[in-house]
Amino acid sequence: MSTYTEDTRKVTTQRLIEMKQRGEKIAMLTAYDYSMASIIDQAGMDVVLVGDSASNVMAGHTTTLPVTLDQMIWYAQAVRRGVKRALVVADLPFGSYQGNSKEAVHSAIRMMKETGCDAVKIEGGLEIKESIERILSAGIPVMGHLGLTPQSINKFGTYAVRAREAEEATKLLNDAILLDELGCFGIVLEKIPAELAQRVTERVQIPTISIGAGQYTDGQVLVMHDMLGINTEFSPRFLRRYAELHDVIKDAAAHYIRDVKNRDFPNEKESY
Ligand code: KIV
Repeated sequence: MSTYTEDTRKVTTQRLIEMKQRGEKIAMLTAYDYSMASIIDQAGMDVVLVGDSASNVMAGHTTTLPVTLDQMIWYAQAVRRGVKRALVVADLPFGSYQGNSKEAVHSAIRMMKETGCDAVKIEGGLEIKESIERILSAGIPVMGHLGLTPQSINKFGTYAVRAREAEEATKLLNDAILLDELGCFGIVLEKIPAELAQRVTERVQIPTISIGAGQYTDGQVLVMHDMLGINTEFSPRFLRRYAELHDVIKDAAAHYIRDVKNRDFPNEKESY
């Protein structure tokens, strides 16, 4: 099975809400470049996320904090060129929307104008209410992100499961209701108990997308390099690996080196 669907109609935010209504699960995966984005789009992905996890898996940083708006725009432009069908959502990076709502809308407009992406994603609830309102009022679709929000890692101090305690769980539920009422079109729920994610999913009209938040959400998202087994250092319980590309690529590279050293590559047929 290399293509999941023959349906070539463009995925829109409205179609995602309709998928929730009819109980069809939403598949979302990150991408950061033209070639990989094109492959996963051809496979039938519903949503391609240009995640600020680019900071980790593309640039080798230990957190998502260093990636800049200019860099995210560059990744998003490449992904956009590779995608025909999926909805393309781009993360606004740390420092590009938290300062004030004017800065937030400026960053979101740059992302949309310079990349042609379909929507932006930002992390947080009540604390960024004004920014969300301002971005939405500019006609830009917004996806929320609650739970373990990696841009706040220095506040959390750990990547452990969030909202296990009642107080944090209540805040998260209220934040999700707020995002729904403000007019966001979806919410990523990261690393929270499955039971809480289920409560949120039942309470809001918009789709919820889980990463480490269990099976009772409207969809799932994974980081491409993790699910393809390129990045083997990261293996949390929620991650399912669909390939072991680290070994495939390493073996291919070693084979090529051997062929070059042995004067086996290129041969007569591979020369002009
Ligand atoms: O940046 C990212 O890849 C994300 C996913 C973890 C949802 O935000």
